[in-house]
Amino acid sequence: MKKKELRIGLIGCGFMGRTHSNGYKRVGDFFPDLAYKPILKAVCSRSEDKVIAFAEQWGYESYETDWKKLISRDDIDAVDICTPNNMHMEIAVAAAAAGKMVLCEKPLSRNLEEGAQMVKAVETSQVKNTVWYNYRRLPAVTLAKQLVESGKLGKIFHYRTNFLQDWTINENLPQGGRAFWRMDAEAAGSGVTGDLLAHCIDLAMWLNGGIKDVSAMTEIFVKQRLREETGKMEDVKIDDACIFHCHFDNGSLGLFESTRYARGHKALFTFEINGEKGSLRWDLHDLNKLEYFNNADESIVKGWRSIHVTDGDQPYMDKWWVPGLSIGYEHSFVHQVADFLKSIATGEECHPTFRDAYETQKVCEAVLLSAKNKCWADTDVDWNN
Ligand SMILES: NC(=O)c1ccc[n+]([C@@H]2O[C@H](COP(=O)([O-])OP(=O)(O)OC[C@H]3O[C@@H](n4cnc5c(N)ncnc54)[C@H](O)[C@@H]3O)[C@@H](O)[C@H]2O)c1
Repeated sequence: MKKKELRIGLIGCGFMGRTHSNGYKRVGDFFPDLAYKPILKAVCSRSEDKVIAFAEQWGYESYETDWKKLISRDDIDAVDICTPNNMHMEIAVAAAAAGKMVLCEKPLSRNLEEGAQMVKAVETSQVKNTVWYNYRRLPAVTLAKQLVESGKLGKIFHYRTNFLQDWTINENLPQGGRAFWRMDAEAAGSGVTGDLLAHCIDLAMWLNGGIKDVSAMTEIFVKQRLREETGKMEDVKIDDACIFHCHFDNGSLGLFESTRYARGHKALFTFEINGEKGSLRWDLHDLNKLEYFNNADESIVKGWRSIHVTDGDQPYMDKWWVPGLSIGYEHSFVHQVADFLKSIATGEECHPTFRDAYETQKVCEAVLLSAKNKCWADTDVDWNN
């Protein structure tokens, strides 16, 4: 079968630029039945030396140093946004207006107002869109979704999740600049809320439904840091840590914690769901494993069972090796590329769409508002949408 081409224009060649490029390159070998194949047409970054090296390393046919040029090219079908958060809105809106499909990194935007413009742009232009909340596509997490949907947990009472890191404890780290844009509110929008909790919120709403209201607190542990651009000590405006609890639409209670000050944790991302009939828990550090407690088990063997999600009848695993062999973090991006290509062929949406990610953005906004005002905040705010 001759495959149709999807010509990719990737913007930003840092961490995510690499994970996405790997996804595009590997998908055809492991998902041979797809009707579309990605072509690495062009990559864009501001520094010419860097972008040339990246294009050579990953096999892009050409490069640009101005993203507007990349978008204006006729030989690009899909624009993939892997830049810091402050660039997402401008690039996505321009790409949609040019009729390109848009794949955007998370969080969708710095704030709800930008997110609303992005949703409007892709929906007005009717271009296919998706946001890279990639953890949905780890097999163990997808299996959790299937188990919840099949009713195996019964009525859900609790959803508990955290995302813990420790890389900003050093007070000498600067804010801003190319390496530390995550520490700069102007570039990132928020701190751990948009960076880490957004992943927790996306998964929580996918697995357990909408969030009604939130009560949050945030903290900035190091109040001032050197701004690289000005060389001056300036107030830090991003949240270093954020904790919130919430009500889900289904009546269950949620507890969320994220910080970059949990000494000893590089990327501890976990969730646990407790239902009437059973519970589930998952941990990124052991990402192929899903733990399941079934209250219907015979009492003498009742306990948490550890499911190694590597068998051919478990999500995505028929595409990889043989039962029992693990896959990794990077495969979630391969899976998202595969699902995106499949969705072009079927005409279905590739979730999470911009609209789905806008729902996550609403929760982030409510969390920051609640922390600022020290009160509960509803998530049903809508920004002209
Ligand atoms: N899905 C995930 O798990 C995940 C993980 C990490 C980052 N992210 C998201 O991905 C995005 C990028 O993060 P990263 O870690 O790859 O950052 P990074 O700093 O490693 O890379 C950013 C890249 O964007 C380029 N860039 C910046 N401004 C540009 C411009 N005007 N034109 C062209 N290129 C420009 C930089 O040169 C760099 O190559 C962010 O939105 C981040 O939140 C998502």
